[in-house]
Amino acid sequence: MNYSNHISDLIGNTPLVKLNKVTKDVQGTVLAKIESFNPGHSIKDRIGLQLIRDAEKKGILKKGGTIIEATSGNTGMGLALIAIQRGYKLICTMSDKQSKEKIDILKAMDVKVHICPTNVAPDHPDSYYSVAKKLNTEIPNSFYPNQYDNLSNKKAHYLTTGPEIWEQTDGKITHFVAGVGTGGTISGTAKFLKEKNKNIKVWGIDPYGSVFKKYHETNTFDEKEIYPYMTEGIGEDIIPKNVDFQLIDLFEKVSDKDAALMTRKLAKEEGILAGYSCGAALCGVIQLKNKLKKNDVVVVILPDHGSRYLAKIFNDEWMKKNKFI
Ligand SMILES: Cc1ncc(COP(=O)(O)O)c(C=O)c1O
Repeated sequence: MNYSNHISDLIGNTPLVKLNKVTKDVQGTVLAKIESFNPGHSIKDRIGLQLIRDAEKKGILKKGGTIIEATSGNTGMGLALIAIQRGYKLICTMSDKQSKEKIDILKAMDVKVHICPTNVAPDHPDSYYSVAKKLNTEIPNSFYPNQYDNLSNKKAHYLTTGPEIWEQTDGKITHFVAGVGTGGTISGTAKFLKEKNKNIKVWGIDPYGSVFKKYHETNTFDEKEIYPYMTEGIGEDIIPKNVDFQLIDLFEKVSDKDAALMTRKLAKEEGILAGYSCGAALCGVIQLKNKLKKNDVVVVILPDHGSRYLAKIFNDEWMKKNKFI
């Protein structure tokens, strides 16, 4: 018989697929790492497993405990798979800009969800970071993984995403492109790839309204860069410890509108139904096409599945309301 003992055994080893039509004007080969093939349909399954595994090893997550995490949704789903397997309770705090689908998915997985306002400063008591911290102090035997500053996050990608890409490209990768939220994906993967070949270029994708690009270029945290935006999962109003700025060669800004339109194009022209930040990452590659040559091999991360955004970017009314179409 050929079966897995648990759904979480299927995390990782996601496929790498060549993009054809959407990248027709780009020189070189563009390969998409399709993370929706993870059992929780996003790249965050990788860190859900690592955050829990490391906390158990350190003894900070104990039998029957409660996990409390601030998430844009996908990390909650990754944690849920493992929490169910190992008998932990899970509470997630989310900001109210995240799609309804993500909230409903978490509830379906027996997660208690606290919705918090998006447009408050990170240190405001109502922010989704502050509410998670407060619950952690109030609930006995609870553990707050804190994917932003917990380095088990980037370790997951150093141990899995990086080696997979290196093997799948037979070491021929020249550029690695990923959206940056907590920074775990880009930093962990980049560390592994640059240890193999220091010439590999690493490009981070940053939405308008986020602090990363300016911080990277000027070393200043400019609050004027912060304003609300639509793209989910990438960009920040804080500097998470998981972002290793030294490993990132450049940041590219992508607009909400361009990311949304590109995500729709990816579905229609490649048959890949992917999430909002996937369109952003791909836009970044296309905006930077003048930096690419014929023999380059670009790997772009597509973090999650488009079914999480059916009521948003795949909905004409929502797109019209936001003047994207
Ligand atoms: C949809 C989506 N894309 C991209 C990212 C960014 O990945 P990372 O947090 O590893 O930087 C996230 C993180 O939450 C996400 O949910």
